[in-house]
Amino acid sequence: MDKKNPVFEAPAAPSLGVLYESSEWSDFKFAMELCARDVPVRMIDMERPDAVEAALACTMLTSRVPASAVARGHARSHAHMLELIEVAEAAGIPMVNTGSAFRYEISKLRGVRTLGSAGLCVPKVYACAPADKIDVHALSYPCIIKPDCGGRSARTAVLRDDAEARAFLVAAPQDTTFIVEEFLVARAGYVTRIEIVGGACAHIQKRSIAACGLSSYHVGSTYEAYDDTCPREVRDVAERAAALLGFELGSFDVIETERAPYIIDTNAMTNVSADCEELLGFDLMAEHAAYVAARWFEHVGKLR
Ligand SMILES: Nc1ncnc2c1ncn2[C@@H]1O[C@H](COP(=O)(O)OP(=O)(O)O)[C@@H](O)[C@H]1O
Ligand SMILES: [Mg+2]
Repeated sequence: MDKKNPVFEAPAAPSLGVLYESSEWSDFKFAMELCARDVPVRMIDMERPDAVEAALACTMLTSRVPASAVARGHARSHAHMLELIEVAEAAGIPMVNTGSAFRYEISKLRGVRTLGSAGLCVPKVYACAPADKIDVHALSYPCIIKPDCGGRSARTAVLRDDAEARAFLVAAPQDTTFIVEEFLVARAGYVTRIEIVGGACAHIQKRSIAACGLSSYHVGSTYEAYDDTCPREVRDVAERAAALLGFELGSFDVIETERAPYIIDTNAMTNVSADCEELLGFDLMAEHAAYVAARWFEHVGKLR
């Protein structure tokens, strides 16, 4: 600093950086709900070249960057997130969820390994590699193939034999890592979808399995409330997983087999579309915002 002519910069006003990637309805709905709770929000598009710098000017951060960014050609958002996680932690800027949760968002294999090592039930993994490196002889059928960094059930299929596996692999993009898992049979014909808020089960739903063998909003699955009747064991598994992966917010897809509840998908970022409030019967982005707002006021209170 020039001591004769010091330039005093006003300290930047405290702000909560909402890290986003794809201008989804849910990102803006979440931000509006935060504003309604008097949280000073700064939207940061993680595709911006200066995204990391912009995020570091914030007091606290919350990530809405999903695994599916890569499928939209937004790999840069992931690279920026990984860079930011390192420096934000060193700078003492808290993130909801934590950076380690983001690493699970972008690799299903990582989640399977962590949960499996802790004794939770997870599917057997037959392979995790780019399509041209997957040896069909290492697979057992039926199995499921999906991008390791995926989402929205894109490029996901049930494979019933060698011929189907070969056809899928030949047509698959070569720049994508796929994970191949044993196909788990749901004992009652639905996938259990659990929304986590504040590390606890906030909403549980039965999501129907479509004729293609998949269960997803994107294949037209239907939803049914399951909060009251979901077994305690299933809730416990989800809350243990949330603690292990550091998910304050997020969701799990669970397949309740004849043997036990298996966690098949770990999402550190839950996306909902505009019709979801009606479809699901609750306002998830408002609940996320209420949770993050409480974390914000706790953090800025500590700073005073
Ligand atoms: N191991 C599995 N056994 C049976 N079905 C699975 C398995 N893994 C995924 N699926 C089916 O595929 C769908 C999409 O897979 P998922 O891991 O949830 O990926 P996404 O990130 O696309 O949501 C699941 O909702 C489920 O219906
Ligand atoms: Mg899923």
